[in-house]
Amino acid sequence: MRRPFSLALSLLALGLLTAAPVPAQPAPRAPAAPAETLRDPLFPGLGQAGLDVRHYDLHLTVSEPGTRAVRGVVTLTLASTRPLAQVRLDFLGPGVTAVRWNDRAVPFRVDERAAKLTVTPPAPLRPGTAARLTVEYAGTPGERADPDFPTPLLLGWQAVPAGDGRAGAIFLLSEPNGTHTFLPSNDHPSDKATFITRVTVPRGYVAAASGVEAGRVDAGGTSTFTFSQREPIPTYALGVFVDRFERVDGAAVPVGVGGRAVARRDYFPPGVPGTVREAFGRTDEALRVLAEWFGPYPFAAYGVAVVTPRLPALETATLSTLPLNMSTERVAVHELAHQWFGNAVTPAQWPDVWLSEGLAAYAELLWTEHLGGDGQAYAARWHANLTRAGTRPLAATRTGELFDLTTYQRGALTFHALRAEIGDAAFRDFLRAYVTRFSAGPGTVSTPAFLAFVRERAGAGAEGAVRRWVEERALPPLPVVR
Ligand code: ARG
Ligand code: ZN
Repeated sequence: MRRPFSLALSLLALGLLTAAPVPAQPAPRAPAAPAETLRDPLFPGLGQAGLDVRHYDLHLTVSEPGTRAVRGVVTLTLASTRPLAQVRLDFLGPGVTAVRWNDRAVPFRVDERAAKLTVTPPAPLRPGTAARLTVEYAGTPGERADPDFPTPLLLGWQAVPAGDGRAGAIFLLSEPNGTHTFLPSNDHPSDKATFITRVTVPRGYVAAASGVEAGRVDAGGTSTFTFSQREPIPTYALGVFVDRFERVDGAAVPVGVGGRAVARRDYFPPGVPGTVREAFGRTDEALRVLAEWFGPYPFAAYGVAVVTPRLPALETATLSTLPLNMSTERVAVHELAHQWFGNAVTPAQWPDVWLSEGLAAYAELLWTEHLGGDGQAYAARWHANLTRAGTRPLAATRTGELFDLTTYQRGALTFHALRAEIGDAAFRDFLRAYVTRFSAGPGTVSTPAFLAFVRERAGAGAEGAVRRWVEERALPPLPVVR
């Protein structure tokens, strides 16, 4: 905005302000322009443009589950697509005690207001080179309020206090921007990475995390569990859990890429009701059914970890987070579908999240049909809900829209419209091709890229039918799949 004149200018004009004397010392060098963020339309502060975190090697120590205290040591493997004189990570976490660049101590600065940890390497990070950045920290994770949950919810690090004969517990609930409450990270879905997560807990506790368990070491009074997440995932989908869990292993299900076995394990807290276990009793079957529609399951393992606070469920990679109050078969299938849509094919920016939620909701309809139920009636209910509540074009323009009825149910109906247009066989081929295409490379999809892909695979007619659902304000008529 242009101001007609500044205060200083008007004072000058009145002769009340004289020119400042020339300083005796050389003027301090102007601070370097702050590094550009990723300019997400909904979270403009997140991420650093040009930074590519390839891998996080994370060691968390939780000495007293149930309190929020944690110690962390993380080594990030960094690459870049442009020269970076500084690396600026998202971080709202515990106090930083040391920062090393390729094992050498380097200067750093924490800006709590901006939620950034800025590190100055000995020489700029250049495209084609890699570096290892280590951050050590200890204390209390930061507090990041959820953008839209009806009751106040702090995202990221969750501590469940001990009480009523229950031990304390720890888990994460990070979508959309909670991971940097405890992990220095490029905390935007467009920068996916692999993870090794080690968690040290007091003996008697069980830790779990995204990926395949790669060992447990008991030493002194502690146990250290290691997990390897070898396929890249978005930062918000990292799962970490600590409780006195019962781990239930099942036989592997051969629905991975190339028929590879998908390891099966679920984690239940003490005293979990039988009805809750039952909600997850058909996971193997759901893996097979969804793999028929979506193509091979994209990760090496799957299961759920049940947590006790009343919260939304979350598709933490390979190990979905299922609060007791959300532990139903419908939600179980929804979170499983997110492993394809969300974790393997990830929104390029937050307004694209409807592509994840729409397809995860659509999986509920496909599961209903598998059970012999009426999918068209399921779709009609979504349509009636949206007619009643009102709707909007699919790309969210405010954070409060990220997880609303339109994101889920209009998102799902968009895929119902595509299916109505092209038929079941072509719809199945489309979904499989979509996963193959957009899980490759950066592993992200934007709304325009999706529409272009519909046109490429299914033709201009199908694209037109889908585009109405994506872009028009009004609700299009209910599509009919027979
Ligand atoms: N992706 C989650 C799901 O499975 C929803 C997460 C809602 N998150 C939130 N911060 N309100 O539907
Ligand atoms: Zn969802």
